[in-house]
Amino acid sequence: MKFFLDTANLKEIQEAVELGVLDGVTTNPSLMAKEGIKGTDAVMSHYKQICEIVDGDVSAEVIATDFEGMIREGEALAELHPNIVVKVPMIKEGVKAIRYFSDKGIKTNCTLIFSAGQALLAAKAGATYVSPFVGRLDDIGHDGLQLVQQIVDIFSNYGYPTQVLAASVRHVPHLLQCAELGADVVTCPLSVITGLLNHPLTDKGLATFLADHQKANS
Ligand code: E4P
Repeated sequence: MKFFLDTANLKEIQEAVELGVLDGVTTNPSLMAKEGIKGTDAVMSHYKQICEIVDGDVSAEVIATDFEGMIREGEALAELHPNIVVKVPMIKEGVKAIRYFSDKGIKTNCTLIFSAGQALLAAKAGATYVSPFVGRLDDIGHDGLQLVQQIVDIFSNYGYPTQVLAASVRHVPHLLQCAELGADVVTCPLSVITGLLNHPLTDKGLATFLADHQKANS
């Protein structure tokens, strides 16, 4: 399973790269705004910086919601760096844009997926990734992980090459359940990845090993 970081924060991306387990990055307009990145030039240069830090796919989202606008923005983004994946919302014009990009060999991530039907449509249009939002479904009392399961099953039934990128992954159990379900990728904050390190018995065991070593060598 690939680990993507869901952030536009360069320091966090660098930290995950140094941990040696990062496969890519996803961003969205809210995450870019959170880092104070505004204006086309700043946004484009920020995406370039992310691509220079991480050796893997970097999702950059279009802002336009009409076909021509999405194509214009997506082509400009794709020209920035070979690792750019154009992130396109799950709307009618978005599906057409995904087909267009797919035919041109430009990678896409269909975002804001909240149903299996939406995922199927995006896969049919040739999306590289579909992003079901696990946490946001849980937030409204639905089962986000059940959606991941449904999409994994459907794609496997037909051998679709589209990868299931579980998004809005908020905590360690989410990540582990996505792994059990066979999601190809999870994207999450750095705290979820570093959360995988923690176990009290590891801390206790290490303290004992070090204490015993100290005793034996003093
Ligand atoms: C997906 O690519 C989105 O950026 C993201 O995972 C949304 O997560 P959130 O629901 O925690 O904002």
